[in-house]
Amino acid sequence: MELLGVIGNPIAHSLSPVMHQAALAAAGKQGIYLAFLVKPEDLGQAVRGAKALGFTGLNVTIPFKQQVLPYLDALTPEAESIQSVNTIAFTGGRIVGHSTDGIGFAAAAEHELGYDFTGKTVLVIGAGGAARAIVAQLLSQQCRVYVTNRTEARAFTLLDLAGKDPARLTVVPMQPQNLESIMAQVDAVVNTTPVGMKQQAAQPELPIPAELLLPQHLVIDIIYNPKQTLFLELARQKGCRTQNGVGMLVWQAVKAWEFWWGITPPAQVMYQAVEDALKASLR
Ligand code: ATR
Repeated sequence: MELLGVIGNPIAHSLSPVMHQAALAAAGKQGIYLAFLVKPEDLGQAVRGAKALGFTGLNVTIPFKQQVLPYLDALTPEAESIQSVNTIAFTGGRIVGHSTDGIGFAAAAEHELGYDFTGKTVLVIGAGGAARAIVAQLLSQQCRVYVTNRTEARAFTLLDLAGKDPARLTVVPMQPQNLESIMAQVDAVVNTTPVGMKQQAAQPELPIPAELLLPQHLVIDIIYNPKQTLFLELARQKGCRTQNGVGMLVWQAVKAWEFWWGITPPAQVMYQAVEDALKASLR
């Protein structure tokens, strides 16, 4: 029996258990995947306890992706470069941290839209953990990346990912006039902030004004609840191709399986489980 789970706080609304359980059943794997609410002060004990209990692996979510680093024995190069971990494997007596967020993001665009980010010019909105993973992935695919963030100083912390090379990564102030000056060069716009998320605000908000979008942009929102944020809806009305966050959720999990077992789970089954759970949450 494989023991697996996701640790976070809050965690009650995580769709990872239904998604992984569906994949385990479809793959004919004997396993159980649960969500664990962990107090920040108990994080180390939770990770070591999972190892002691014989867990195969864990996923790590908000707010522990960086906080978990001191409790790990080793990091993969992907996790090392962004200093963030969303997947842990207990293997050979060691606790190994990995990040599948960036590769999951790129895989979602490739599988859902046939979109290849290689060499593209991308505007990333936000500078938190998710943005770090996505920016590192884009840079590994020779993208020209612009980052904009409410707190501009935080956006500058991403510059190390590009060796502080302004030809690869540039911080753009969030004022519309600054953003407007780069939009014609941009191929894709990615929202990594929670702006537009369900229950985030009384009124749906936009991460940047939708007037800045151009029909040639691919617009991705990594939010999956609601499935269509106001930002995506307005982008669609402008004629942009759009993608929501369900794909990244599924493909980061697919890549976690590849890390744990070297096997690719049935992504379609995982999509279906997530779609069903989202539908049920609307009722
Ligand atoms: P995650 O790990 O999911 O990326 P995070 O590290 O907390 O989460 O980062 C959240 C990102 O969304 C940050 O870029 C944050 O901007 P600040 O650096 O200014 O805090 C951004 N964000 C969160 N709420 C926001 C809001 N209401 N408006 C604009 N940006 C917001």
